[in-house]
Amino acid sequence: MLAQAVGKLGLAAGAQALPAVSLSLSRCFSADGVDTLKKTLSELIPEQQERLKALKKTHGAKSLGDVTVDMAIGGMRGIPGMLWETSLLDPEEGIRFRGLSIPELQAQLPAAVPGGQPLPEGLLWLLLTGKVPTKEQVTAVTEELRERSHLPGHVKRVLNSMPDDAHPMTQLSVGVLALQSGSHFAAAYTRGTHKTKYWQAVYEDSMDLIAKLPQLAAIIYRRTYKNGDLIHPHPTMDWAGNLAFMMGYENPGCLEMMRMYQTIHSDHEGGNVSAHTTHLVGSALSDPYLSYAAGMNGLAGPLHGLANQEVLRWLKDLTAKLGPNPDKEAVRKYVEDTLASGKVVPGYGHAVLRKTDPRYTCQRDFASRYMPEYPLFKLVSNLYEVVPEVLGKTGKIKNPWPNVDAHSGVLLQYYGITEENFYTVLFGVSRALGVLAQGVWSRALGLPIERPKSLTMEMLEKKFTA
Ligand SMILES: CC(C)(COP(=O)(O)OP(=O)(O)OC[C@H]1O[C@@H](n2cnc3c(N)ncnc32)[C@H](O)[C@@H]1OP(=O)(O)O)[C@@H](O)C(=O)NCCC(=O)NCCS
Repeated sequence: MLAQAVGKLGLAAGAQALPAVSLSLSRCFSADGVDTLKKTLSELIPEQQERLKALKKTHGAKSLGDVTVDMAIGGMRGIPGMLWETSLLDPEEGIRFRGLSIPELQAQLPAAVPGGQPLPEGLLWLLLTGKVPTKEQVTAVTEELRERSHLPGHVKRVLNSMPDDAHPMTQLSVGVLALQSGSHFAAAYTRGTHKTKYWQAVYEDSMDLIAKLPQLAAIIYRRTYKNGDLIHPHPTMDWAGNLAFMMGYENPGCLEMMRMYQTIHSDHEGGNVSAHTTHLVGSALSDPYLSYAAGMNGLAGPLHGLANQEVLRWLKDLTAKLGPNPDKEAVRKYVEDTLASGKVVPGYGHAVLRKTDPRYTCQRDFASRYMPEYPLFKLVSNLYEVVPEVLGKTGKIKNPWPNVDAHSGVLLQYYGITEENFYTVLFGVSRALGVLAQGVWSRALGLPIERPKSLTMEMLEKKFTA
C-alpha cells in the first residue's frame, strides 16, 4: 500500500518561488566533502575549450566529405554537420556513451543494488564529465537532484487546466514550458552575463529540470490515469526509482527496470530528432526549458519516440486478431498486411543503425532474467524471427532489425504500467540526461547558432544541367 498518497491534484500546494541558485561555483562540495559535479565540470572545461580551438586552427579547412543531392533531399542522412560530445552511434555496433557500450555501463556505473542496473545519476556524471563516477559522487548527484526537485505549484495548476485526455507528451511539453519562468539562464542573459559564464546558468537550469522531471512525469501519469491521486516523492530513493515510486510502483524489479530504462534511452548521438531539435533551439540561446520542450515535441512523433506507444498498439491489435500465441505464418501475414496498408512496422528500422539495436538486446536480457515466461515477451521474441525477413523482402528498408522501441513496452506492461500513451514520457525523461548534458557543453564550448544552407529544386536543377 502506498502510504504517501497525498490526495487530488487540485489540493496540491500553491505556487512557490524556485530557490535562488548562485551562478558562482558555491555548490562545489557536498556536505561530506565529495567534489560536486559542477566543480568537476568546471575543471574540465578550459582544457576542452583549448582542444576545440586547436582543432579549428589545425583542421578547420579540411573536408569531411561530399554532400550528394540525395543527402540534401533525403533528410540530411549521413551529412556530418554537428558536434556532439556525449555519445556516438556506430551503425554496426550501436551506441557508446562517452566511449562506453551498454554492457560496459552496466559493469562500471554504480548501482542501487549489488550487481544491479546502473543508476542514471551515474550516467549523467559520465555524460557531463566523460569520467566514470565513484559511488560517493553518484550519491552526491542523487542528493543534489533531490534538493532541486521541488515543483512549483503553478506547474500543477497549469497541468490541471488541461483536458484529462490531453496526450501525456503534450502535457510534458506544457509542464516543462510552465517551469521556464524559473530559468536561471534566461535571467542571467537579461542581466547581461558574460558569455563565458553561460554554461554555469545552463548547468543550473539543466540540473533543476532533470531533478523536477520525475515528479512532473508522475503527476501527468497520476492525473491522466489514477484520478489525480498524487504520491509524494520518496525521501531517500534514487532519481529513477523515485519516478516509478511516484507513479505508484514499488516492486524492486520495476525500480531496477526504471533505472535501466532511464539509462539506455538517454542519448543516441546528436542527429536524431529530439537531440538535434534541442541542440538547434539551444543554439539560438533559448534556455534549456525552451530547447528541451522543443526536443520533446519532436520525440512525440510516431517515427521517433512515439514509436514505443505505437508498438504496443500494434501488438495489442495483433493479439486481438490472432490470439496470444499466433503461429509464425499468421504473424508473417499480419506484418505483410501492415505494410500493404501503407503503414510502418513500429519498432523496426533505423536511420543510422544497421544491426539489432543494443538497447533492444539490453531490454531483452532484462526480460529473460525477470520475466522469461511472460507471454508478451515470448510474442516479441517470436516477432524477431519473422519481421526482419518480411521487411528485408521489400528490398528498400536499410535496416530490418528491431530498435529500442520494439521491446520497452513489454517491460512496462509486465510491471503493470499498461497505459501505452504514457510510454514516450518515460523516454523523454531519460532523453533529458543526454540532450541537457550536451547543452551544457555546447555553451561551454561556445558553439554558434546553427544555420545550415537550404536549396530549392530549381537551384539544384540549374546546377547539374549543362
Ligand atoms: C526509423 C525510421 C523512421 C528510419 O527511416 P529511414 O532512415 O527513412 O529508413 P530507410 O532508409 O530504411 O527507409 C527506406 C524505406 O523503408 C521504409 N521503412 C523503413 N522502416 C520501416 C518499417 N519499420 N516498416 C515499414 N517500412 C519501413 C521507409 O518508410 C522507406 O520507405 P519509402 O521509401 O517508401 O519512403 C523507419 O525505419 C521507421 O519508420 N521505423 C518504424 C518507426 C520506428 O520504429 N521508429 C523508432 C526509431 S528508433
